[in-house]
Amino acid sequence: MNIGFIGTGKIASSIIYGIFKSKLKITKIYISSRNRNIAKKLHLKFRKVKICNNNQDIINFSNIIILSVTPQVGLKILNHLSFDSSKTVISLISTIKLHDLKRLIGSSKVCKAIPLPFIENRLGPIIISPKNKVAKKLFSKLGSVIEINNEKTSYSFWSTSSIMAAYYEILNSTTNWLVKKKIKKKIATNYISELFLAYTQDALIKKNLGFKKLVKESQTPNGLNMQVLKELKKVKFYDKFIKSLNNVHKRIKR
Ligand SMILES: NC(=O)c1ccc[n+]([C@@H]2O[C@H](COP(=O)([O-])OP(=O)(O)OC[C@H]3O[C@@H](n4cnc5c(N)ncnc54)[C@H](OP(=O)(O)O)[C@@H]3O)[C@@H](O)[C@H]2O)c1
Repeated sequence: MNIGFIGTGKIASSIIYGIFKSKLKITKIYISSRNRNIAKKLHLKFRKVKICNNNQDIINFSNIIILSVTPQVGLKILNHLSFDSSKTVISLISTIKLHDLKRLIGSSKVCKAIPLPFIENRLGPIIISPKNKVAKKLFSKLGSVIEINNEKTSYSFWSTSSIMAAYYEILNSTTNWLVKKKIKKKIATNYISELFLAYTQDALIKKNLGFKKLVKESQTPNGLNMQVLKELKKVKFYDKFIKSLNNVHKRIKR
């Protein structure tokens, strides 16, 4: 199997690292020369990765083509490329809808997918929409696949995938707070990583309880957790969070 990536940025690079940590049988991976530094690094690290200077070559040499450019670039370049109908195209571009994609690439063998950067460690959920056997076979070796047939439903999942940076900022702010309290950065970083990992693993183990119950069980009456939650609710922290999700959702579905 040959896989081609149109656009060698953050997410393409994360998928390629994941592929080489997996048991997937890959003959070659063809990547764009853009971004130059990332492409060079991948080529030097993995002998099966070949750099193409021209996007059409990537398509011609590959069985599966992954579109990993920004929406602006996608809209500019896709209708100048020729995709024959034997190829499976997987688009990671959030804001180009399926029917527009089919029109742009002139092929209907296309689906959309939402991998996230931790795919490089073969972690996390990967949404595929609509169902696609080839995409499922590929991504099920790189994470936990969730197939969504209805494109509109996939927009909701896409929206929740946008909280990654905001989530890491909580880890960053908490670590910086510890550092200001004279705790060494390395120790603070390690503690916060372990703390959030435990929160998440515990939530996963107890997922059948429901998160509402977890929130309740995490508070001692008049205790410290109750205080923080109350203070955040008072300043409408969670309302603002939901508002951001709604705004992202509007942007994706328009
Ligand atoms: N990052 C994520 O977590 C994530 C998750 C799911 C989906 N996505 C989607 O995946 C897409 C890529 O995201 P990203 O974060 O990987 O962005 P990125 O790091 O900016 O990567 C985009 C790449 O496209 C390259 N490019 C620009 N013009 C090109 C052209 N004409 N032909 C080929 N390549 C070209 C850029 O190269 P230069 O640097 O040389 O301009 C860059 O390396 C976006 O649509 C995003 O919504 C991202």
